Amino acid sequence: MKKIIVTGGSGFIGSNLVNYLIKKKYYVINIDKLTYSSNRYNRPSKNYKLYKIDINNKLKLIKIIKKYKPTAIFNLAAETHVDRSIDGPRNFINTNINGTFNLLESLRYLKKSKITPKLIHVSTDEVYGDIKNNLRSDENFKYDPSSPYSATKASGDHLIKSYLRTYKLNGVISNCCNNYGPYQFPEKLIPKMISNIFNNKELPIYAKGKNSREWIHVQDHCEALLKLYLKGKSGESYNVGTGKNMTNIDLVKKILKISKQIGISIKNKTKIKFVKDRPGHDLRYALNSSKIFKQLKWKAKVKFDEGLIETIKWYFENKKFLNQISKKKYEKRLGLKV
Ligand SMILES: NC(=O)c1ccc[n+]([C@@H]2O[C@H](COP(=O)([O-])OP(=O)(O)OC[C@H]3O[C@@H](n4cnc5c(N)ncnc54)[C@H](O)[C@@H]3O)[C@@H](O)[C@H]2O)c1
Repeated sequence: MKKIIVTGGSGFIGSNLVNYLIKKKYYVINIDKLTYSSNRYNRPSKNYKLYKIDINNKLKLIKIIKKYKPTAIFNLAAETHVDRSIDGPRNFINTNINGTFNLLESLRYLKKSKITPKLIHVSTDEVYGDIKNNLRSDENFKYDPSSPYSATKASGDHLIKSYLRTYKLNGVISNCCNNYGPYQFPEKLIPKMISNIFNNKELPIYAKGKNSREWIHVQDHCEALLKLYLKGKSGESYNVGTGKNMTNIDLVKKILKISKQIGISIKNKTKIKFVKDRPGHDLRYALNSSKIFKQLKWKAKVKFDEGLIETIKWYFENKKFLNQISKKKYEKRLGLKV
């Protein structure tokens, strides 16, 4: 049985990826610091081991990689919420830059002992910054991050590329668009709106809701990541998107409509409310993902409307997931202190 390390495997995408890899018959070792955004809602199977470790702990990281000799490391350990990065960028520097550096240094060291797992570093479309309406960013598009979050992700990507080239490490980068699906921490747009609907709260939308994002179901992202491990060319970056965008206001209206259709009661306080915009808020992200479509024959399968219905149903049927998270951790508006 092949062994794979997933860092950040208790987060939103990480926990979906861990479950997917176990289904695909890999033994999965999860290295996660278990920060506020991690979930311990599900405990996967016997082919799974969790280490509560910070990726900045080089000694422990090296020890675990030596012990298991994994064929791949998927790096998803990160601080991820833009609003939090505006209030306090330090954690983002520590994990997204220093942590990535530390992982790379561990791999550089282990290469001497012929331990060379393939690194699949998970990055974001936000590194390309605001994209004009008539454009979509391909992998050669210049990096132009706008928030401390996206700047730390961009820095991580640059470090990865430099190590792959200079030290000839084996690895690829994925730059993916916005994910949605089960197990997402409710500070993020879709689960936040769903949680507010359940709790008879207003639905806050930044500015006039014209910000446009490209959405992918997390399952499609996990399938793309496995494909990158199996077929991605070392040293390369791959955009992972659907090619379809939606404005935040249209998205929230859609969530409301679907919720009504599937019988969730919309109570009197649940109404859209426009609130002050996020400082530095990018208006649009849009990927050109033709490289992964053409070269690796990967394509997203989940249609947005169907994925969204399934996602809303999941949060409804798994209310325990949202109920176990303290509201103090996500109800307060963040990211306005500039
Ligand atoms: N969610 C999205 O829409 C999206 C889109 C594109 C890319 N990404 C990228 O995917 C990755 C995962 O995102 P997510 O949405 O699942 O995030 P998340 O916040 O849900 O999970 C992050 C996980 O990383 C862990 N972690 C944080 N710091 C750590 C450290 N120093 N050492 C070990 N573990 C640590 C946390 O405990 C948590 O379990 C991130 O790199 C993010 O930038 C996310």
